[in-house]
Amino acid sequence: MKSAVVVGLWRVPLTAAAGLRVWLTAADAARAARYHQAVDRDRAVASSGLLRLAAAELAGVDPAELTVVRRCRTCGGGGDHGRPVAVTPDGETMPGVHLSSAHAGGLVLVAASREAPVGIDLEPLDGAGPDSWTIERIALTPGERASLEGLAGADLDRARLRLWVRKEAVLKATGHGLAVAPHLVDVAGPVGRWRADPAAPVGHQGADLAEVLAEGASLVDVDLEREPKLGYVAALAVLGVSAEVGPAEVTIEWHCDPLG
Ligand SMILES: CC(C)(COP(=O)(O)OP(=O)(O)OC[C@H]1O[C@@H](n2cnc3c(N)ncnc32)[C@H](O)[C@@H]1OP(=O)(O)O)[C@@H](O)C(=O)NCCC(=O)NCCS
Repeated sequence: MKSAVVVGLWRVPLTAAAGLRVWLTAADAARAARYHQAVDRDRAVASSGLLRLAAAELAGVDPAELTVVRRCRTCGGGGDHGRPVAVTPDGETMPGVHLSSAHAGGLVLVAASREAPVGIDLEPLDGAGPDSWTIERIALTPGERASLEGLAGADLDRARLRLWVRKEAVLKATGHGLAVAPHLVDVAGPVGRWRADPAAPVGHQGADLAEVLAEGASLVDVDLEREPKLGYVAALAVLGVSAEVGPAEVTIEWHCDPLG
């Protein structure tokens, strides 16, 4: 029997940033204002606002009753970087609210679940994402490279980018992000798994990654390729599936009009 996990996915276009600004804390607004480019400021605003709305909906409380802070697994520092975490007005972590966020091109995505840590990632298919050299030489495992054999052109580009977003989704679910060498995670199959490489730089091994990923992360490819104007590749990772139970049965619930 598989375990069942429900994950809510919230999606807004970047043009929703102005409407979401009302949900930012002073710290969120200051963090967004530090970006030089308007598009990055809008992404930070939309992500922070949407995270707060999603967390409140998941917790069944008013958005004013929580804030979302960032916590870095690598340096332990709080505030401006790391995994998004919902906290009460007293600064206590809210139990049962697992969050993740991604923004690229003109789209912002937030994933939230009561049951398990989640990671979401997306990249546009227009070439603005990570280049093929970086993915092929730095990020892929031998098994992932083998999964690309025989593909060419747009199919190869899409499959390569799909591996990349799966990888980032897993590393967001664990909280390590790219502080860890991405080839230490294999995402060729339906479950993302840790893969040892003693030759990887010690600083990029993610001391506890093997432990955190011991039970793997269930992977779901999220279909965004029919978005208007620009296609995207996106993936969701759900952490903490036991070896006995197998990959989680993941059900996605879309919330496409959170401002409506
Ligand atoms: C996670 C990461 C790969 C995402 O980068 P990206 O592709 O440029 O951006 P994306 O749009 O895909 O994702 C951005 C979101 O990832 C989330 N995120 C950032 N770091 C994260 C982490 N360690 N774990 C989980 N989620 C993380 C944030 O919610 C962020 O959204 P925000 O702008 O609202 O805060 C990158 O930020 C990263 O590697 N961070 C960790 C680096 C690190 O730990 N360095 C050591 C610092 S001491």
